[in-house]
Amino acid sequence: MRAEGTALVTGASRGIGRAVAVELANRGFDVVATMRRPEDGKDLPAEVTAGAGSLTVQKLDVTDHHAITVPDELRVLVNNAGTEKPHPPFEATPMSLWREMYETNVFGLIEVSRRAIPALRAAGGGVLCNVTSSSILAPVPFYAPYRSSKAAVSAIGESLRAELAPLGIRVLEIMPGPIDTDMLAGSDRPPEAIEFDGYRDAAERYYEGRRGIEGMITSTADAANAIADAILDDSAPLRVACDPLAVGMLDGWRQSDDESFMQAMLPTWTG
Ligand SMILES: NC(=O)c1ccc[n+]([C@@H]2O[C@H](COP(=O)([O-])OP(=O)(O)OC[C@H]3O[C@@H](n4cnc5c(N)ncnc54)[C@H](OP(=O)(O)O)[C@@H]3O)[C@@H](O)[C@H]2O)c1
Repeated sequence: MRAEGTALVTGASRGIGRAVAVELANRGFDVVATMRRPEDGKDLPAEVTAGAGSLTVQKLDVTDHHAITVPDELRVLVNNAGTEKPHPPFEATPMSLWREMYETNVFGLIEVSRRAIPALRAAGGGVLCNVTSSSILAPVPFYAPYRSSKAAVSAIGESLRAELAPLGIRVLEIMPGPIDTDMLAGSDRPPEAIEFDGYRDAAERYYEGRRGIEGMITSTADAANAIADAILDDSAPLRVACDPLAVGMLDGWRQSDDESFMQAMLPTWTG
């Protein structure tokens, strides 16, 4: 697709969303960078340097369904807003944690997309891009709420890929690996499961493995560059990685059968 028209990014206050908003504006889109607190984006228009597109900041909390507005015509939607929560064992995870996770990562994304699809249609088609996670390819313990919320979005994207193709809307799923953001920094700690009887060993092993990603962390600018490339590439596959670690995982997953891929990873957590 050509880099022109309006693009809306959710969760653009910081992290991947912020970098994607700037990158899409630099490529030529008129970007609506949305966020819960618009004051977080006051310096954002000045970060656009290429002069090709533009960037405006708009308030949007994806969980505040009644307040969601999208431009009348939209060429690109990037569903990036996401949250991560503490990681107790499954048996000790309260329903409130599941609900909070799904309110943002799943129901918020659904409502934004529902409203954006008519705008994408009005523009004659475009790209609906969901940011999930490469972690859904691996049997990561203590991450069931986060991973399952992202897997739900992945399945939604598969259906939408078929449903929206006749309308000229291409669906894209970005599956990041470790990207240098607050969310990643916040995950640099043992999961809360370490405090629970019977789960300490697995939690320690998980954290040991987590520390192994140091040196494999990708900058938000590089991730945003890869995401913008995939948005503009009409021949891109449904699932795209935006960093070397996730590229390797996605390639391994594609080349292996599901069970062999899982079996290869299980010893990391089961010893
Ligand atoms: N970083 C990684 O390594 C990594 C890996 C895999 C997947 N991801 C995914 O990539 C996406 C971006 O993550 P990130 O690493 O950039 O995280 P981040 O730095 O924590 O940023 C998260 C963004 O989502 C926004 N957000 C949270 N709840 C929201 C809501 N209810 N409405 C609107 N915006 C909301 C945050 O806004 P506030 O500033 O208002 O909190 C922030 O802008 C997420 O979907 C995440 O799951 C990240």
